[in-house]
Amino acid sequence: MEGVNRLRKKQTSTLLFRSNKHLLILIALFSLFIFFIFFFPNNNNSLAPNFLKTTQCFNFQKTQKFLTYAPHSGFSNQLSEFKNAVLMSVILNRTLVVPPVLDHHAVVLGSCPKFRVSDPKELRFNVWNHAIELIRTQRYVSMADVIDISSLVSESAVRVIDFRHFVSLFCDVDINYFCSKGSKMDDSLLEKLRQCGSVLSGHIGAINECVYAVEEDCRTTVWTYQKDVENGALDSFQPDEELKRKKKISFVRRRKDVYETLGPRSIADSATVLSFGTLFTSPYKGSESYIDIHEAPKDQKIQSLINKIEFLPFVTEILDAGKAYALHTIKSPFVCAQLRLLDGQFKNHRSATFQGLKQKLDSLRQKESLPIHIFVMTDLPVSNWTGTYLGDLANDSDSIKLFLLSEDDELIKRAAKKVLDEGHGWNFGAFSSDGIKNVCHRRQKLPDILLHVEETVCSCASLGFVGTAGSTIADSIEMMRKKQFCSR
Ligand SMILES: *[C@@H]1O[C@H](CO)[C@@H](O)[C@H](O)[C@H]1NC(C)=O
Ligand SMILES: *[C@@H]1O[C@H](CO)[C@@H](O)[C@H](O)[C@H]1NC(C)=O
Ligand SMILES: *[C@@H]1O[C@H](CO)[C@@H](O)[C@H](O)[C@H]1NC(C)=O
Repeated sequence: MEGVNRLRKKQTSTLLFRSNKHLLILIALFSLFIFFIFFFPNNNNSLAPNFLKTTQCFNFQKTQKFLTYAPHSGFSNQLSEFKNAVLMSVILNRTLVVPPVLDHHAVVLGSCPKFRVSDPKELRFNVWNHAIELIRTQRYVSMADVIDISSLVSESAVRVIDFRHFVSLFCDVDINYFCSKGSKMDDSLLEKLRQCGSVLSGHIGAINECVYAVEEDCRTTVWTYQKDVENGALDSFQPDEELKRKKKISFVRRRKDVYETLGPRSIADSATVLSFGTLFTSPYKGSESYIDIHEAPKDQKIQSLINKIEFLPFVTEILDAGKAYALHTIKSPFVCAQLRLLDGQFKNHRSATFQGLKQKLDSLRQKESLPIHIFVMTDLPVSNWTGTYLGDLANDSDSIKLFLLSEDDELIKRAAKKVLDEGHGWNFGAFSSDGIKNVCHRRQKLPDILLHVEETVCSCASLGFVGTAGSTIADSIEMMRKKQFCSR
């Protein structure tokens, strides 16, 4: 009996075990089922088919190849990335997708020297979502609406396409949606665009025939072009031992020839769209943080392009407004003061920033007739001037005459309207865009061009320019002055 009992026990336990197994399988199947229900809410809109569709690049001709990238931070930064993008697109013989101007610091990168930056995938996806948001809220301004790239496109081998046109083709979305009232971009369209951005970002397989999402970033790579160093050689700047330990960094930074790595002889070349992360670079400790292409002695075409993109002017509508203000409103010779007082690092250097201006004015007081005309561009609102050097100047009406521009000035509004009406960015489409441009611009909010007009005014300041040390805006004004843009 005992034996039988034991046998029974054994049988029941195997049975139990078996049914446990079944139960497990059942649970697994059930969770899979729930997972699918949850993630693929309805069949029409299910993720998988859309992803497959969007990764075929079926709207592009076989020979067409594109380059996209993910700009970040403020305008000056975005402009320097745009220049690098132009350069990369010509080196790699791809059509550059011209991005919108992103809101100031809507997307941040982090710090290359500290090896603390957003992953390229994340960065691309953030930029994509922000760009779609700009379209949705009718605030979209193309980089080519404010920066004049017409001569680049006509004289050099630069080929460009507007981001909106690119999106409509890449995501298979009727471009007319982008100009309808916000409500027309309904949830299913936004979801489709989100998925499509996810593909472009490299979230769904970084490499395929349609998209090659570049993984190299400033932590691992410095791009070069035709340098006489071995492709893949170590860069002089490496994470130090402490950083390696703290951040668990196991890699080294290599110098890679961009043409060898991503050009015609590479896997990347077979992809229709090559998708970079940031293209920002700046000198650091004797090296470059990401791109070290300053000359191309063996390639005349690239060399002349490098010279040309050193300075890209604003569009005529902006330049004309700045010059008109200098000529007709300020009238007399004037000095320009660019005072960055609030943003980040700059608020700690206020007194140094004011000191520079004070010295300049003291010397002008000696030799110029009074009052001295000063054009001020600053981020400190006039209501906060009391108690600062600017407040003193504002009260010193006997010897100082101040000029300021604001977003509400007619001059600025009129220029912004012109920029919108021209809509230069639309000209770089894959198909005729007049119709769509006309529909779109009537609904658009006015672009924010104050800073650009102010820079132009400062380029006209014949008594000199006092900028804020370390400000990229100051650098940009110095460049405009060097190129004597005002007298052109
Ligand atoms: C560059 O691309 C264009 C268009 O895709 C193509 O016609 C041309 O042959 C390419 N040039 C080189 C040098 O590969
Ligand atoms: C500017 O002044 C307002 C009050 O007039 C104050 O609330 C604000 O904090 C000031 N901002 C700065 C940056 O000083
Ligand atoms: C100008 O001077 C008056 C009187 O001294 C003072 O109340 C006012 O705050 C000053 N204005 C500025 C902008 O500093």
